[in-house]
Amino acid sequence: MQRTQQVTTLTAGAIGKDGYRHYMEKELHEHPLVIGQTLQRMVDPATRKVVLPELPFSLTEVPRAVITACGSAFYAGMVGRYWLEEIARLPVDIDVASELRYRNPPLDKHSLGLLISQSGETADTLAALRALRQSAVHILSILNVEHSTMARESDAMLGTVAGPEISVASTKAFTAQLTVLACLSIAIARARGQLDPLREEELVSALLDLPTRAADALAQQDAVRAMARVVAEARDVLYLGRGSLFPVAMEGALKLKEISYIHAEAYAAGEMKHGPISLIDSSVPIVASAPYTPLFDKTLSNLQEAKARGGRLLVFTDTKGAERVSAIAEQMVVLPHVHDFVTPIVQVIPVQMLAYEVAILKGTDVDQPRNLAKSVTVE
Ligand code: G6P
Repeated sequence: MQRTQQVTTLTAGAIGKDGYRHYMEKELHEHPLVIGQTLQRMVDPATRKVVLPELPFSLTEVPRAVITACGSAFYAGMVGRYWLEEIARLPVDIDVASELRYRNPPLDKHSLGLLISQSGETADTLAALRALRQSAVHILSILNVEHSTMARESDAMLGTVAGPEISVASTKAFTAQLTVLACLSIAIARARGQLDPLREEELVSALLDLPTRAADALAQQDAVRAMARVVAEARDVLYLGRGSLFPVAMEGALKLKEISYIHAEAYAAGEMKHGPISLIDSSVPIVASAPYTPLFDKTLSNLQEAKARGGRLLVFTDTKGAERVSAIAEQMVVLPHVHDFVTPIVQVIPVQMLAYEVAILKGTDVDQPRNLAKSVTVE
């Protein structure tokens, strides 16, 4: 196929390491910037309303959404499910693309097929897009590469403005995907009559606060490093979280596996008693996301159970949860307390950073981990 040439407009600054040790570290430090840039495209700060680009279908008519993606993008989708269900009251089905492409789920016309991909080229996600197309659903993709195959094959695209992501392990593209999903959830909620203007203002204000809060999270690098020294000694690590922080735990475990080669598993904290609790001893550190959300007490009681069995607790919390967490945690990283809605976006930043700091201690090839590719274009 003949393609038109695209001349890059990227500056050396955008593709260099900018004084950081690795691309991953540089990209971690770009979280505040990319969240801000992505919000600029989707939010009117004067009216505190979400303003999406025009879509070729109506969000009012959508009866359900099917979300699919691979890797970190899939975990972003899992956070999106919580938001779409909770805020927009929209039924959501979600599956990894390598499964969805062969599942052939029954779907109403007018359903929304929501694809998430940094590269827009991942083979399984693209195949899932084509499979969803057979059901005549609306295809909306959240993509970082705007001239990608998925962009061409979608009915509409929402761009994450993360710039080039060079490290194989995704960081800034993930928070940009979450930012788009948060805005989309607000837009769908409004279209479905589920959101009054005051509540929209409240949620958008929380989003607009994010670049500052993300910078506060990055300022915790020393506390994260101290935690990394414990994790780097372990052979297995358990990640725990509840609600929209469960996908944050999954993202943390994936990142640790990808770049430090330490085995990690993520569990919904309440599910621990149905199996993984038998693994707990002092050699299996527990990394928990436990900021002060409505599920804080539940998570805390799961952590107490783990502690009673000799578990070493490394806890990401916030200023409101810190006092009670400090009574049981061996180490904590304390982030600013933010609106529940945006909590996963702030909390995931130091969780990704932990994997980075562990990889540094292990001396692995952080930006190019073994056996992995930035974009997996084969099945
Ligand atoms: C690869 C990368 C992951 C990424 C996944 C999905 O496995 O190593 O970091 O999350 O692909 O990539 P995509 O470009 O579709 O977001």
